[in-house]
Amino acid sequence: MQQTHRDENEFNQLCQRAGLTPGEAGTVLAVSDRTIARYINGSSTDLAIRTLKQEAEKRGAGTGPISFRFIDLFAGIGGLRIGFQGIGGHCVFTSEWDENAQKTYGLNFRDNHRLAGDVREYAENPDLIPEHDILLAGFPCQPFSIAGVSKKNALGRPHGFLCDTQGTLFFDTAQIIAHHRPAAFVLENVKNLESHDKGRTFATIINVLTNELGYHVQTRVISSEHWVPQRRERIFIVGFREPTDFDLKSLKLPGNGPKLGSILEPHEEVDPKYTLTPRLWEYLQAYKEKHNSKGNGFGYSLFGPDDVTRTLSARYYKDGSEILVAQPGKRPRRLTPLECARLMGFDRGDRRWKIPVSDTQAYRQFGNAVVVPVVEFLADAMKPFIESALLRGAGRSLAAPVTVTRPDREPVIAHG
Ligand SMILES: C[S@@+](CC[C@H](N)C(=O)[O-])C[C@H]1O[C@@H](n2cnc3c(N)ncnc32)[C@H](O)[C@@H]1O
Repeated sequence: MQQTHRDENEFNQLCQRAGLTPGEAGTVLAVSDRTIARYINGSSTDLAIRTLKQEAEKRGAGTGPISFRFIDLFAGIGGLRIGFQGIGGHCVFTSEWDENAQKTYGLNFRDNHRLAGDVREYAENPDLIPEHDILLAGFPCQPFSIAGVSKKNALGRPHGFLCDTQGTLFFDTAQIIAHHRPAAFVLENVKNLESHDKGRTFATIINVLTNELGYHVQTRVISSEHWVPQRRERIFIVGFREPTDFDLKSLKLPGNGPKLGSILEPHEEVDPKYTLTPRLWEYLQAYKEKHNSKGNGFGYSLFGPDDVTRTLSARYYKDGSEILVAQPGKRPRRLTPLECARLMGFDRGDRRWKIPVSDTQAYRQFGNAVVVPVVEFLADAMKPFIESALLRGAGRSLAAPVTVTRPDREPVIAHG
């Protein structure tokens, strides 16, 4: 069959337009992975190009922006998904083991696939995960967050990577990246990840992603107060498989953000059940008083319409103490779940957020989530670089998978 060395983008662009991964293109064209790899590198055939054009037309793909496939690990209620769906991504796999979070996720995303549970089962069998171009993972932060670490210390329990139920989930994520080698990934975690265990945890993570997996990795802590009236600092770890000009650190964040008043429900519409009971309010005041007299800054925080709040936590349902809304002439109140949805940017502009779970579960879900407009900002900034990465390399690499060194496992010994 005649092979022409043609513009190497042509084959890749057609795959993207038709929404085909290299593996699927191989099936459509009835050729091997090896042949596809040659096509990707510019040695495709007229027949292959014609067939792909027909396939793209059949699928109704125009010449508009390319689309890509992504997976959403530790999905929570899908904050990362919203951002990457917004730039043309199609979510092909979701893993979230909490049934209540699954309920919220299932209701708010249409065209859904079945939601998968424990990520670890998929890290053991990554072939069960469909091919994808981008991997998103907000791996659990309790093993690294200040609150999580102090609680575990107090209970005499190990934290970080040594917390064997949660700390090693990063390595499960890394194993999936190693197997699928997506064009890019975005990982998200608490800011404290950088300083946990004197920086050793973070150094290990960056070493695995950079040196073992060979990705070009950049990180940045971004606070959400540029978009919502909440100060919530999260670290974003972005990796591209191939070198790129994307520069995370130099992205210019928007100017002044909104104030709390812009997301509060009208006074008269807030159910009185959100106002603290006299008992809880007395308790919180006494607790603060006790700690203040010892020179500690512990205790509740009160906010008014012109303020920007502290970070909403997953324990907000307990007493709401980190963000109490001042009510003139009355005891303060908690935020309502709808206000939390707004504070986290889930309910915003034209986007409405449905809450099918109890208040307790809703508070936990928002307290665990990522602030959506921050992800939308990041996804927008990454978009042109994702597009050019996909056009150059058609998504998934056909290179041999690499292995990940895990502190919780015996080293893998390759027998040749
Ligand atoms: C920090 S939240 C993720 C937030 C989310 N990425 C977002 O976009 O808002 C971590 C989530 O991981 C889930 N999780 C923890 N361990 C898991 C496991 N082994 N498999 C699947 N999900 C898990 C938790 O239930 C929690 O919802």
